[in-house]
Amino acid sequence: MTKTKILFVCLGNICRSPSAEAVFKKLVKDKDLDNQFQIDSAGTHAYHAGEQADARMMKHAVNRNLRLTSISRAFNPQTDFDEFDMIIAMDKDNLLNLRQFARNGDDLKKLYLMTDFSEAFDYDHIPDPYYGGSAGFELVLDLLEDAGEGLYSYLLKGANDE
Ligand code: 4NP
Repeated sequence: MTKTKILFVCLGNICRSPSAEAVFKKLVKDKDLDNQFQIDSAGTHAYHAGEQADARMMKHAVNRNLRLTSISRAFNPQTDFDEFDMIIAMDKDNLLNLRQFARNGDDLKKLYLMTDFSEAFDYDHIPDPYYGGSAGFELVLDLLEDAGEGLYSYLLKGANDE
């Protein structure tokens, strides 16, 4: 069976996209569908490459039973566009950067904005929590848990429409 391959992307790959990765991994694991997915995350910049997720983000995530295990890495246009089916940006700057990295129209078709999958929330981006306080980290997780459900529904609908 071919896996659905999803890459979540933010700026530094230490707050939002590792959280999106953990949220979606947990969501499919709880449905016993983790063998059908390949899920990863990356940053549009390499400032934090090789580092664990931000300690504040990890602490807020653990309170929701989410373990942020990924190590930060930069998005690689030469391999990631070929490897993944969907590349999902956390905000419009990330999306714009990814568009600039795209090599062709097929690459562009793989790009999405995470909040396009939101169900309960009306945000047009996942706000960067890096320079803020606790509420920002909680908001990131609230938005990602909601949009993760929406993403799963979107994939399910696509599979049923085939
Ligand atoms: P992220 O958050 O893009 O959600 O991982 C940030 C991490 C680091 C920085 C900015 C945002 N930084 O400026 O170093």
